[in-house]
Amino acid sequence: MADTASTAEGTANGSSDDSHDDTKRDFLLYSTIAVGAAGTVMAAWPFIDIMNPSKDVLALASTELDISSVEEGQSITAIWRGKPIFVRRRTAKEIETAQATELKDLPDPEADKDRVKKSQWLVMIGVCTHLGCIPLGQKSGDTKGEFGGWFCPCHGSHYDTSGRIRKGPAPKNLPIPPYKFIDDTNILIG
Ligand code: FES
Repeated sequence: MADTASTAEGTANGSSDDSHDDTKRDFLLYSTIAVGAAGTVMAAWPFIDIMNPSKDVLALASTELDISSVEEGQSITAIWRGKPIFVRRRTAKEIETAQATELKDLPDPEADKDRVKKSQWLVMIGVCTHLGCIPLGQKSGDTKGEFGGWFCPCHGSHYDTSGRIRKGPAPKNLPIPPYKFIDDTNILIG
């Protein structure tokens, strides 16, 4: 009887020990995983950190532009990531002409409404899509080509009042950079 009790007690103790061992094993396992994960993050941090652009690089990545002084029919040129950005405050006539142009007449069909955020303001990268010259048309005395927009003197590409290629060797419209209006008179390019 005593043997039976002893055996029963021994079995009970054995289960308790097993369970205790399991708990210890689990604790050690989770601790190891946790330390391993922390170690991985710590080891990776310098690499993650150097992949983030520095503040001066971020500053160059975007350009804020005050357009409050630009009159209707005037243009200004800003620099963004080393490229000229043409910003034109279009006249009603220029907008009307751009909107009335049929897509079938365009070598690179693109509706005017898809190239502007506000119809009066046209914001483009001012680099000819042929071989990269800077088109004329920003200054009031510049020749603006046959379509009243911009003209690239290098090989004779004509862009319209939406900056779309209309004639000449350039294959594409003047590109639209990423930008947004911060308010009515300020835009953020980039
Ligand atoms: S670079 Fe503009 S037409 Fe050739």
